Amino acid sequence: MAMKEEGKAIHVLMVAFAAQGHINPMLRLGKRLVSKGLHVTLATTEIAAHRMFKTSSTTTTTATKSISGIHLEFFSDGFPIDYDRKLDLDHYMDTLGKFGPINLSKLIQNLSHDRVPKFSCIISNPFVPWVADVAAEHRIPCAMLWIQPCTLYAIYYRFYNNLNEFPTLENPDMSVELPGLPLLHAHDLPSFVIPSNPFGSLPKLLSQMFQNMKKLKWVLGNSFQELEKDAIDSMAELCPIKPIGPLVPSTLLGEDQNLDIGIDMWIPEETCMEWLNQQQPSSVIYVSFGSIVVLSAKQMESIAIGLKNSNHPFLWVVKPSDYPKKDGAGELPLGFLEETRGRGLIVQWCPQTKVLAHPAIACFLSHCGWNSTLETIVAGVPIIAFPQWTDQPTNAKLILDVLHVGVRLMPNKDGLLSNEEVERCIEEIIAGPRAEEFKKAAAELKQGAREAVAEGGSSDRNIQLFVDEIIGNSC
Ligand code: UDX
Repeated sequence: MAMKEEGKAIHVLMVAFAAQGHINPMLRLGKRLVSKGLHVTLATTEIAAHRMFKTSSTTTTTATKSISGIHLEFFSDGFPIDYDRKLDLDHYMDTLGKFGPINLSKLIQNLSHDRVPKFSCIISNPFVPWVADVAAEHRIPCAMLWIQPCTLYAIYYRFYNNLNEFPTLENPDMSVELPGLPLLHAHDLPSFVIPSNPFGSLPKLLSQMFQNMKKLKWVLGNSFQELEKDAIDSMAELCPIKPIGPLVPSTLLGEDQNLDIGIDMWIPEETCMEWLNQQQPSSVIYVSFGSIVVLSAKQMESIAIGLKNSNHPFLWVVKPSDYPKKDGAGELPLGFLEETRGRGLIVQWCPQTKVLAHPAIACFLSHCGWNSTLETIVAGVPIIAFPQWTDQPTNAKLILDVLHVGVRLMPNKDGLLSNEEVERCIEEIIAGPRAEEFKKAAAELKQGAREAVAEGGSSDRNIQLFVDEIIGNSC
């Protein structure tokens, strides 16, 4: 157990936004900190408790509120549990920004009772930038776990601080040249730096985060040095980010299964594993677009026809949308299920990390969310990238031009995805002249990820340095 000189254990408080893609990396970092001898508490909003304990497949005890050695605490976001938080996201985030700091502050006061060691560090994540203010108020050093690629951190930092030129309304198609990154064309840039994008420029939350950077003592990245070396090095003199990942399930990293930790906001259909067991090795195309993206009816149709014409078996996650759908968005074309019965399996949610590790998987047709990208890299699976928004276009650029583990579906000159393009990419990734190159690069990254997290590896060393600094600070 890591101890201060006077003999008290070191206690870290992690504060996560209540979404699976935020809580899971936090829990996995927490697990690594516990393995280094720290006490860890994860605090998030009450809605997460409601969802976690209803659908979690992980061993969790509500009575003791702990998950694999990490103590859990919940605070109110200012809304009743049954309020629909997706109704108006801006209103929700504003209210969370108002009540979150007050309620978190009260929680810290309550927990800093004599019998609980006072926190030596608070770790926040990007959707709760106000956590840095609460930490400053309580005079606790604050770290941030950045949950997208370090490359995105570098781009946003430079954009926010006006350090480089980015596209403008007058010059929307300009390419961007940044230290440590390949030349980024307009379609490679994150949507939040595109002036014409319908979601607006850098969202308020990210701006608040960069405004609060001075209050952060450490920035940790869910990545590993060997994956994004140049981008990470490019920030060393500006505002360093220390990669401590990949924060993916332990089984994918070849570690003890008992180390696994994470929650599922939706119940995975485990039966797809039996279906995969019946497929030939490296034959199945896995298709999923994460938890948020809803494709248009035309995109769904082109992917459906492309898969049908490819003659490969496929497993496709078609998650019912949380929002009202427009014009058949997110829905399979009529007749598709019948036409492909026996060759394809459609599920609403699957155990993705187990799927990716299955020997039947040949490639992943993905929206390139960062969690999915890391999981795919660690599983050693080549990727067909179909990015939609936020960090995904840049993640696709990394996949193609830095890591060389995939191809990208490009829309035609009318901005539409054709089924021929889907067929071309499937053919190229599975049987094209570069197919072996993709597999080899993916296998090397898989090995690199395992080495990074193993004892003495680059991420393990960064975690140890972080822990040593926390201990040093609290002496
Ligand atoms: C969001 C953003 O869209 C993404 O761009 C950003 O990088 C992270 O936050 P999301 O779209 O959900 O995330 O994608 P992703 O980051 O890939 O996370 C999806 C998670 O859901 C993965 O951990 C994946 O394993 C899991 N998943 C997905 C399942 O467990 N089952 C499924 O069927 C599909």
